[in-house]
Amino acid sequence: MEIETIGVVGAGQMGGGIAQVSAASGFNVIMSDIKDEFVERGKNAISKSLERFVKKGKLSEDQKNKALKRIAGTTDLTMMKNADFVVEAATENKSLKLGIFKDLDRICGKEVILASNTSSISITKIAAATQRPEKVIGMHFMNPVPMMVLVEVIRGLETSDETYNTVENLAKKLGKTPVPANDFPGFISNRILMPMINEAIYALFEGVGTPESIDAIMKLGMNHPMGPLTLADLIGLDTCLAIMNVLYEGFGDPKYRPCPLLKKYVDAGLLGRKTGRGFYTYET
Ligand code: CAA
Repeated sequence: MEIETIGVVGAGQMGGGIAQVSAASGFNVIMSDIKDEFVERGKNAISKSLERFVKKGKLSEDQKNKALKRIAGTTDLTMMKNADFVVEAATENKSLKLGIFKDLDRICGKEVILASNTSSISITKIAAATQRPEKVIGMHFMNPVPMMVLVEVIRGLETSDETYNTVENLAKKLGKTPVPANDFPGFISNRILMPMINEAIYALFEGVGTPESIDAIMKLGMNHPMGPLTLADLIGLDTCLAIMNVLYEGFGDPKYRPCPLLKKYVDAGLLGRKTGRGFYTYET
């Protein structure tokens, strides 16, 4: 089936980014969230990000406006019945995602592939919430989506070759490079990235260094584009904690224990850039 309309569930950093690259690549997009204000915030962020490409001369004003027009925002999940392909990018919470997939399975046409942008939750488990496990797959974009070329593609136990090939082709059409990973907690990306971030938080917790020195050492000494604490603030500390918990519980190995300081920041509602404060302070 030809994909013309992509449904994106979630208008946050990831959902908004996926909607943006889809619309900029010529697809119609239906972007849903649970509140009008979240949909509006998502659209504003997309507009700002597209504007950065216009300023750089990578996109014309006309292309920007056309991309924005291709995105229909909604708070009604049943609108996904009009999508030829759906990517879910809701909060990193297992029961929430299972509920969404159950609903999507009821709402969407039988031939529609349901992808999840989960950063760590089992695709096999998500697929089992539906009657179409062969059409469920992980399509894990990186943050900020418009800038990062990788899409980690994760097959669940029953994901078909046809589904995998469709997602691989779609990722390429979105200007991304798909790379396969197997369905283990955290897949490849977060199996490696998140313990590094967690360790940086332990280094802060134990007084090994200030946030500035920890980040400077990783930037200047390892050529990382951002230090791990700056990156944690970008990803969102709630998401970092959720991923560490998936690794900790999934492998049953204490080496994945989330740092108590990470838990404390999340308890305090200091979630990083999105709340204006995490390891650093941001203008909101
Ligand atoms: N939209 C459009 N353009 C953007 C943008 C956005 N959202 N974010 C950054 N840019 C552009 C800027 O306009 C700028 O363009 P020019 O260089 O042409 O002027 C360019 O990106 C660089 O931006 P900055 O100078 O502000 O900052 P930077 O040089 O540090 O680059 C970055 C920003 C691309 C994000 C870079 O720091 C980077 O690659 N950081 C690492 C990001 C990363 O590791 N992401 C993965 C996170 S893990 C994840 O997502 C998965 C998970 O499951 C948790």
